[in-house]
Amino acid sequence: MNIRPFKCVFCVFWLAALEGLSCTLSLHDNFLEPLKSLGLQREAGEAHSKFSLRKPSLPDDDICYIVPGKTETLHNCNFNSTAKTFLVIHGWTVSGLFESWVAKLVAALYNREKDANVVVVDWLDTAQNHYGVAAQNTQEVGQEVGRFIDWIEETTNIPLEKIHLIGYSLGAHVAGIAGSHASRKVGRITGLDPAGPDFEGVHVHRRLSPDDAHFVDILHTFSGGTLGLSIGIEQPIGHVDIYPNGGSFQPGCNLRGALENIAHYGLLAMNEVIKCEQERSVHLFIDSLLNGAEPSKAYSCGSSTMFERGVCLRCHKNRCNTVGYDARRVRKARSVKMFTKTRASMPFRVHHYQLKIHFTAQTNQSVTESMLTASLYGTNGNAENLHLNVRGKIGTNTTHSFLLVTEEDIGELLMLKLKMEYSSSLLNMMWPWWNGDSPELHVRKISIWIGETQKKVVFCSKDLQNTNLLHEVIFVKCKNTWRRSSMRRKYKSE
Ligand SMILES: *[C@@H]1O[C@H](CO)[C@@H](O)[C@H](O)[C@H]1NC(C)=O
Ligand SMILES: *[C@@H]1O[C@H](CO)[C@@H](O)[C@H](O)[C@H]1NC(C)=O
Ligand SMILES: *[C@@H]1O[C@H](CO)[C@@H](O)[C@H](O)[C@H]1NC(C)=O
Repeated sequence: MNIRPFKCVFCVFWLAALEGLSCTLSLHDNFLEPLKSLGLQREAGEAHSKFSLRKPSLPDDDICYIVPGKTETLHNCNFNSTAKTFLVIHGWTVSGLFESWVAKLVAALYNREKDANVVVVDWLDTAQNHYGVAAQNTQEVGQEVGRFIDWIEETTNIPLEKIHLIGYSLGAHVAGIAGSHASRKVGRITGLDPAGPDFEGVHVHRRLSPDDAHFVDILHTFSGGTLGLSIGIEQPIGHVDIYPNGGSFQPGCNLRGALENIAHYGLLAMNEVIKCEQERSVHLFIDSLLNGAEPSKAYSCGSSTMFERGVCLRCHKNRCNTVGYDARRVRKARSVKMFTKTRASMPFRVHHYQLKIHFTAQTNQSVTESMLTASLYGTNGNAENLHLNVRGKIGTNTTHSFLLVTEEDIGELLMLKLKMEYSSSLLNMMWPWWNGDSPELHVRKISIWIGETQKKVVFCSKDLQNTNLLHEVIFVKCKNTWRRSSMRRKYKSE
């Protein structure tokens, strides 16, 4: 085990938060005592896991268990041996109860795959333990799930390609162990924010890895290493690893606010925030099942910072993929990190734009802090006053790249407005020599790359006399590019 101290402290803290107990070790030890002795009472070889085949009409209820070795249970539960089979595997639990997402995911899977067998793996008894113990138990439970898969295959001849394991948090590693212990490879494993503590950096045999299935895809939603909190694993561990919103600070969860003011939010609220962050992975997956017609795209990128600059929105050579269920199966030698932005709630999809803006000025000026906002106007709607994230300086006669997202599909882009908002004190700070005359920072041309459509459009200032960002500058499609494209169209139709 190689956990940095803050993580241990945080896990204890998290546990405390979940129980609404004060954050002390002694309380925990007492609280966990009955569980530990329960664990000791379990006889060797006794099953840890139960396999409940849920019904589309009752996604929340366990009404039929498939018992390995008892073939009749397959018939009794109406297991369809030619259909896709999903194994949903939960994670660590303090309450010992299924969380509400389980039924939502089951319902969404049946919504998409009507004939499927959706089996919920119940290892609640083993998962309800001190985190470190539960993490250790993933090995044994995973092997048990692996044996279950072998038995299902032998008994029903179901092609393993049709088996898809979906594991959340610790359940993702259970899925990995199951995949590696099954006699032959299963089709797919989806890891939904796989747990980090005790798994980060460990050998592939002890955690979920690309070797465990023909296709392994991961959604990382709470791997916020920057703050020293890492409930989800940070390293890429699949064929495709998607980090929505950089892998942490999911919109609508308010982690940043909660961290800055734990006293104000309280421990229980903090728990809600953490749950929101980690569980977002599940809801993104559910979204992809329910809203498959309008899928979210994710893009390969060297880092989250580069993605934030908008430079990674190209799709050639498998550089982009679909988030969630419809992810394209790519098998690269090295795992790829992919990024996407999302809305705060379902449907999560946004539209990504790269704005390349060329700034010019007569004299050298640099803008360190600025409020650069853009408004986009399209055939289907508008997105106004979007903030452009200025990192560092805007030099003169330089081109800068920005990422912009719109929550709505605004259709074909028709017009764009750009504006720099200054306060006069800020002006004085930036230009100490400022004598009341407006500083001049001009933009004449903006080149835009749209991630979702993979199209480029170039916008020119409508009025060449009016390009100073101190006033709102209006951009329309450049005439020359318009002419060129219309000529191309003509050529094609001939
Ligand atoms: C079993 O699943 C297949 C699809 O794989 C479907 O065509 C068939 O109707 C299902 N059988 C039953 C009895 O539901
Ligand atoms: C502006 O700054 C750049 C580098 O910061 C320098 O190379 C250039 O000569 C400067 N131009 C003027 C006109 O001062
Ligand atoms: C920026 O470019 C313009 C025109 O191309 C030129 O007049 C001006 O001196 C340049 N400014 C700097 C600081 O290089």
